[in-house]
Amino acid sequence: MHNGIIENFKALRGELTEAGARLESETDTEVVAALIERNLSAGMPAEKAVRKALARLEGAFALAIMICGEADTLYASRRGSPLVLGFGDGQVSLGSDTLALCGLATEVCHLEEGDFAILKAARAEIFDENGKPAKRPLKPMTATAGQLDKGNYAHFMQKEILEQPTALADTLGKYINPLEAKVELPELPFDFKEITKVNLIACGTSAYAARVGKYWFESYARLPVEAEIASEFRYRDVVIGEGELNLFISQSGETLDTLVALRHCREKNLRTAAIVNVAGSTMTREADVTFLTYAGVEIGVASTKSFTCQLMVLAALAIGAGRARGVLTKAGEAVLVQALEEIPAKLAEVLYHDQAIRALSAAVSKARNVLYLGRGCLYPVALEGALKFKEISYIHAEGYPAGEMKHGPIALVEEDIPVVILAPSQGVHLKTFSNMEEAKSRGAKIILISDAEGVREHGPGTMATIIMPSVPDIALPLLYAVPVQLLAYHTAVRKGNDVDQPRNLAKSVTVE
Ligand code: AGP
Repeated sequence: MHNGIIENFKALRGELTEAGARLESETDTEVVAALIERNLSAGMPAEKAVRKALARLEGAFALAIMICGEADTLYASRRGSPLVLGFGDGQVSLGSDTLALCGLATEVCHLEEGDFAILKAARAEIFDENGKPAKRPLKPMTATAGQLDKGNYAHFMQKEILEQPTALADTLGKYINPLEAKVELPELPFDFKEITKVNLIACGTSAYAARVGKYWFESYARLPVEAEIASEFRYRDVVIGEGELNLFISQSGETLDTLVALRHCREKNLRTAAIVNVAGSTMTREADVTFLTYAGVEIGVASTKSFTCQLMVLAALAIGAGRARGVLTKAGEAVLVQALEEIPAKLAEVLYHDQAIRALSAAVSKARNVLYLGRGCLYPVALEGALKFKEISYIHAEGYPAGEMKHGPIALVEEDIPVVILAPSQGVHLKTFSNMEEAKSRGAKIILISDAEGVREHGPGTMATIIMPSVPDIALPLLYAVPVQLLAYHTAVRKGNDVDQPRNLAKSVTVE
């Protein structure tokens, strides 16, 4: 069993076929089996044959190997991709994720980079990357089979969208002191007063959370921020000063692009921190400090509750940084914390739009393209809306900063194209209404997501309106994320797509 990519498989394949091996597929995985087989044929004992083969591999992989005639033994190794051992009830099991071992194990142990393990009966021997016997900490299995059950929900994604009020309240509860209306962060290995810049690094939905975080760190802590795509950040000749904080964001804590970027910073002795949902995952073990989100287990490939919980932690961190740097007063902090505290209840109100959005998805599911527009902190939410929509509905969608439309993308606007507008009637968002009119006058079908005032003033002539609660700026991205999640979900269901397991995608992307 192989998870990951053997990067030098073409060279190995050439070498093996030249030596007379007959390979039956084009896969990189078969090359591993063929290497082991060659070693066995040369008379090596099984363990040596496996170790020697592993030494030839380049790339990122987790492997579980069984040799014909040795059915009581499994060999396992990881490089890049995660691998977890589970112990319980007289057995040892092996999985790429703790959740996979639910019901099989009462204790788990994460293999470390380069580890090699031999599993026999209920025992496992572990060796480190230098081949020396190693001990890895055993942790109790915290996931329960109940968390893997979708109950009466049609899909995990639906369950996870609807769980957001609780997930957000649980997450917020870990980062604030409600009695004093202030942020309380875990002990930090750095002082925000000394931080000169924050680099927020992530992939996919987590990278959109990073982009929202940029607005908050800038506004509330007056810190310069770069929001970076991990796979680009790692391979640019990026200039990072010693005073900078490199904050990695990931639901799984295993995304290889993000992990490789984190390791790059560690190699350069730069400060690292991580916002992660899966406790015990690789990033939580490798970053200097971890800020967990408490979204609970997220099974649907499309991130929903983990996104809003990442936003909650970013908001708390930005406020904490602002206070530490003397940018926010105690009273200013209290106002922001109170706004965060109201989010779970306000989000529950937004969920009442579920059926209206389901009805709306009938028209949207016929579209070939959909545009999402927002400004300021709702621009990344427009990007996230488009990503969510395309990844599960398989309909092309793009998110844009509303002001950028006239610089090119407006050429895409044709008769009947659905355009989702994220625009509360406050601040910079007021400007989005003129961009909406530009699209409307060219025949676009507008779906306006705004507060009561925005809908009253700008709703006439739109295809649909969704009335959102009026909330302070800091709460906007968390609430406006919900209708775009629901629109993606209902459109995908209507199209008969596999919502929880969309084509070509995996929950945890452990290849570069
Ligand atoms: C989100 O819906 C996606 N499936 C994907 O973009 C995801 O956010 C990305 O792969 C990053 O995952 P992570 O948060 O686990 O690092």
